[in-house]
Amino acid sequence: MTRPRVLSGVQPTGSLHLGNWLGAIRNWVGLQDSHDTFFCVVDLHAITVPHEPGRLAEDTLTTAALYLACGIDPARSTVFVQSQVSAHSELCWLLNCVTPLNWLERMIQFKEKAIKQGDQVSVGLLDYPVLMAADILLYDADLVPVGEDQKQHLELARDIAQQRINARFSPKDAHGEPIPVLKVPEPLILKEGARVMSLTDGSSKMSKSDPNEGSRINLLDPPELITKKIKRAKTDPTMGLEFGNPERPESDNLLGLYAILSGKGREAAAAECAGMGWGTFKPLLAEAAVEALRPVQQRYAELRADRATLEAVLQQGRERADTVASESLQRVRDALGFLPA
Ligand code: TYM
Repeated sequence: MTRPRVLSGVQPTGSLHLGNWLGAIRNWVGLQDSHDTFFCVVDLHAITVPHEPGRLAEDTLTTAALYLACGIDPARSTVFVQSQVSAHSELCWLLNCVTPLNWLERMIQFKEKAIKQGDQVSVGLLDYPVLMAADILLYDADLVPVGEDQKQHLELARDIAQQRINARFSPKDAHGEPIPVLKVPEPLILKEGARVMSLTDGSSKMSKSDPNEGSRINLLDPPELITKKIKRAKTDPTMGLEFGNPERPESDNLLGLYAILSGKGREAAAAECAGMGWGTFKPLLAEAAVEALRPVQQRYAELRADRATLEAVLQQGRERADTVASESLQRVRDALGFLPA
């Protein structure tokens, strides 16, 4: 029996942070034994906002090395670079032509980013979710493990597959029943870590694009910097850490991070920190973060130093991804009626 498919990806923009790890990559690791897993570095998405050409390739390798350092095993998963499999761009075009413009204009992430960029906003940024749909649909993914902020993009991918391709273009079998062209994927958003918030504002998401470096912990931050960022993290005047108090978003966020990073879980963490002042709690959280990231950083240093091996992993991944993606692209081309090559 074939195993269900998984596909996910992270953009190689800046350095990856705790949100990317806890919301996404960490959840990929456990799926490798039970699922057929595909993880790509989505470099085409990274150029939807202004980027530095001199850094793109290195950031792509860094991101791939971080996948492996976090526990993605190239013997069990297909790890590849999105731009190296041309089917992503090609399917994106085919999907563009059936996706209503107003579906894209109502995407929350587009609206947020477009406000920041004013009239410099690119067509690529608007089209970002269609490229993401292409990434997913090319691999007939059953499951897409992502953080909470990607939920709307996943719904769009489902709508494109179901309403715009399958409903209109599915060929019929001998009994007149439609044979779906594309698999309709499900999101996998785990409760814990799905929405890691900024260290400087517990009501906004931890994000790579926040100009304040102190708002996030990057996976490659040295221990002293992690400790410093946590020491400076926003607090409130109340004694004792707790979950679920809407008046105390920083408490909810930092206690949540402690629960995951210490490995203690929410119940034990809440009991341990219920009567604790911030001054006692922060060093505990800093230590948990440093210890959780230590093995990731050690493995990363080894992997990143061996460029040839890393490139070989990506080459092998590219070949496997290309085989699967070309097949699904052909299916869509046929369904849309193109002249066969
Ligand atoms: P990116 O690079 O912005 O984010 C990568 C992953 O990290 C998750 N994430 C978070 N999770 C919890 N708390 C946060 N503060 C936080 N910030 C980010 C995101 O939800 C995401 O899972 N569009 C995607 C990249 C992409 C993709 C795909 C994902 C392109 N094609 C196909 C899945 C399938 C994105 O947000 O990248």
